[in-house]
Order: sequence, then C-alpha cells, then structure tokens
Amino acid sequence: MVTCSAPGKVYLFGEHAVVYGEPAIACAINLRISTSAKLVSSGKIKIDAMGKRLNCMSEEFKYVCCAAQTIKRLFNTDFGAEISIKSQLPPRQGLGSSAAVTVSTIKALAECLGIDLKNEAVAKIGHQVETAVQGIASPADTFVSSTGGVVLIEQTKTRHLSSLNIPILIGATGIERSTSDVIASVTRLKQTYPTLITNVLSSIGDITRLGTQKLANEDFVGLGELMNINQGLLESIGVSDEALSRLVYASRTAGAFGAKITGAGRGGCMLAITPDENVKKVSQAIAKHDAKVLNTAFSDSGLQTE
Ligand code: PMV
Repeated sequence: MVTCSAPGKVYLFGEHAVVYGEPAIACAINLRISTSAKLVSSGKIKIDAMGKRLNCMSEEFKYVCCAAQTIKRLFNTDFGAEISIKSQLPPRQGLGSSAAVTVSTIKALAECLGIDLKNEAVAKIGHQVETAVQGIASPADTFVSSTGGVVLIEQTKTRHLSSLNIPILIGATGIERSTSDVIASVTRLKQTYPTLITNVLSSIGDITRLGTQKLANEDFVGLGELMNINQGLLESIGVSDEALSRLVYASRTAGAFGAKITGAGRGGCMLAITPDENVKKVSQAIAKHDAKVLNTAFSDSGLQTE
C-alpha cells in the first residue's frame, strides 16, 4: 500500500482575470487530501472515499478513474487497484479538491508501479486529467497542489513566490457551484460591455502585480487592502453573492487585514487573512453567518509520499 497526500489551495488574487491572460496568485494551504493505493489482480479500479464506496456518477470517481486510465495510457501498462481517499477539503467549493485528489492518485499509482515521477511531471499529467474530466482546466490547481507554496501564474508560466506565515480563515458556504457556469457569466458580461469589463479584469491584474511586492515585503496591511479592492472588482463582475459578501464584511469588521472570495465564487468559499490576536473574533463572525470555518495557513508542502 502506498499513501500520497496533496494540499488544497486558495486564490489570494486574480481569479477570473487569469482566464483572460492576467496574472494571479494561488497558495497551497495546510488542508490536504490523502490517497492510498494498492495494486490488485482483478484488473478493476475500486474506490473508497471516507468509508463510502464511490459509484461512477460521483465527482471524485471521475478524477480517480481518469487518473488511472491516463497512467495506463502514458506508461503503456494495465493494472487493477484499490484506492482509498481521505479528505480535509470540502468538495466543489473552490479549494482545489479535484486537483489534490488527482495528483495524489497519480503519484500513489505511479509509486505502486515503480515509476519515479517528479512533482512537476505529476502536475502536468494532472492537468491532462482535469482537462479530460472538465473539458477546460487551468494548470494552476494541479501545479499548486503538486509543488506547494505561493505561486504566481502568468499566462502559461508559473513561479514560486516567498511564502507567508499568517493565519488564513476560510468561510465555506456549503453551496456547490459549477466553475464553468460562473466563468460563462463573466464571458457574457464581457461581451456586453467589452471595454468596461476588460478594464476591470486588467485592474485585477494590476492588483496581483502590486500584491507580489506586498508579499515580498511581508506587508500584511497592504495585502489586506489589495484583497479588499480585488473583492470590490469581483463584486462588480457579479461573482460574489449575498452569502459570501456577508462573510467578507463580517470578517473585516471583526478585525481581518482583508477578505475576499476565493475561486469562481457564487457559492463556495471566502478567505480572510487575520492577525493572530483576531483569529477567534473573525472565526466567530464567520460562524455566526452559518458558514463552516476552516482555520488554515499557507503551506510550502506539496505532493508527498507519506
Ligand atoms: O473555484 P475554482 O477553484 O474552480 O477556481 C476557479 C478560478 C477561475 O479563475 C475562475 C478559473 C480558472 O480556471 O482559473
């Protein structure tokens, strides 16, 4: 039996704008998915997620099965496997659970087969898997989950930035949504108001560029301010919603440096970066609005064999 684990992620800046070529910053967090695999002679793939046998309609099943098929195709081999998944990440809420399950499955199966895959190679195969399952996928999620840390995504290039030691509180609304539907709504808005929306997206790009300087200087106040401006622009393109905006305002009032949605929005999660002394107050403010609070931090630890 081989067990590999991989982290989830948040977007500090730049979601949606990144779809149109602007830069974004995504960060691995210390909430992980761990996948155990062993080869079996039946030739079948059996998956158990947190004690639940998965059927082929469940989301995780698609990623895990496609990961197994992709390994078979790329390495010209055939095998059956029993795969078991344990997750600290709520699924389909913008915290990168599909990327984490995909890369941890690829790595665990490769190790079972005696294939040595470096994390960046796993990220590339993981991106193929996400693209096959979703139709469209940015390489950011599988890269961040495989390599960990804080990552600047610029067009097709990715670069690590220095990490930060600061509490991150995530408010999970529990509302699942389709990333591609939210992206499509921004595309429609951009077609209706091309100049206006292009300017908004390019301002989000400017925020990300300024954010890289604030990160380098460990300027938490500046980072928080930029997150709040980023949130205002995300509101203007209609990807925040009442539940998320309430959590964002509650966090700021309770003493966060800054707060915004993370990922596609319209459901899913928001994040707040918070001084140590305000963690309790901000957590309580998020919980008061019926969201699940995840107390986390940036993590340099990417995909690893346990
Ligand atoms: O909510 P998520 O984790 O699927 O993130 C979506 C982020 C977008 O910028 C909207 C899309 C993308 O692929 O970058």
